[in-house]
Amino acid sequence: MTAQVIDGKAFAASVRARVASAAAAFKQSQGAPIGLTVVLVGNDPASEIYVRLKVEDAREVGINSRDVKLPATASEAEVLDVVRKLNADPTVHGVLVQFPTPKQVRQEAVLDTLSPDKDVDGLTPLSAGRLASGKSNALVSCTPQGCLMMIKSIQPKLEGLNALVIGRSQLVGKPMAQLLLQENCTVTIAHSKTKDLGPLARAADVLVAAVGRAEMVKGDWIKPGAIVIDVGMNRIDLPTGKSKLFGDVAYSEASERAGAITPVPGGVGPMTRACLLRNTVLAAYAQRGMSVPTEL
Ligand SMILES: NC(=O)c1ccc[n+]([C@@H]2O[C@H](COP(=O)([O-])OP(=O)(O)OC[C@H]3O[C@@H](n4cnc5c(N)ncnc54)[C@H](OP(=O)(O)O)[C@@H]3O)[C@@H](O)[C@H]2O)c1
Repeated sequence: MTAQVIDGKAFAASVRARVASAAAAFKQSQGAPIGLTVVLVGNDPASEIYVRLKVEDAREVGINSRDVKLPATASEAEVLDVVRKLNADPTVHGVLVQFPTPKQVRQEAVLDTLSPDKDVDGLTPLSAGRLASGKSNALVSCTPQGCLMMIKSIQPKLEGLNALVIGRSQLVGKPMAQLLLQENCTVTIAHSKTKDLGPLARAADVLVAAVGRAEMVKGDWIKPGAIVIDVGMNRIDLPTGKSKLFGDVAYSEASERAGAITPVPGGVGPMTRACLLRNTVLAAYAQRGMSVPTEL
């Protein structure tokens, strides 16, 4: 069997088109655009690139986006003050603080302060609690949300399937498991202390790898016909002096057995970016009591 490749780039383009149409409808109804603000503390070069891309992505779909930059020396109180002002600003519907922040600014303090209604990264404890309690107003972390959309594009009904999530981070593994549980999968969560991962993987109809270890999931771990979602992004230096991005799944081996698989790059990454925009639209619609277009 050669797996169907799930084209994250094409899927993300279709999500962005739907987001753009929902953003335009919001502007027409409310007389003002949806607003997204990204807060960057310090000048880490990678974070600067991520923030620029997020702001540009949002502008392209008609979301009024901007960044707020604070110096690396900003105190926690100063950052929290900015977050509180954004919480209270009715023109801003989505807020995200780019992590990691400098060490004097605790991530926990930022997330405890950020309004869960504007938490477009889905990282606050209240967002996690809403998701775990099955509340419809939960803003869900973008990467697992994108993974679920891709899984459902292959298999719309997941009820009764065995799902294995490898990784239990707040950002990916835990919300991924919650989403699959809501779809009535039988969910197993594996982590660094899990013994004998191979047999667990071989029983999985849906396998999501979110570990950060290049090609850890071997081809013979894959149940024939399974849906395999590879979240891992591992940049490895090659002997040529160049570097290459690898996923957590041994892609060519796994494609021989899987029914469908996401590539790295071009799978989960683009969908993560698109889901941030989707979350911003969901947040804005909820704040104005508008019903969200069903196709979103
Ligand atoms: N494409 C995207 O948009 C996107 C977005 C987010 C993350 N990522 C990538 O996805 C990967 C995971 O990200 P993350 O933020 O979830 O990472 P993380 O916070 O480092 O979590 C990694 C998880 O993997 C588990 N783990 C480590 N070694 C393991 C092993 N040998 N067997 C089984 N489980 C093991 C850890 O277990 P313990 O809990 O026991 O330590 C932990 O739960 C990274 O490569 C990251 O770059 C990609």
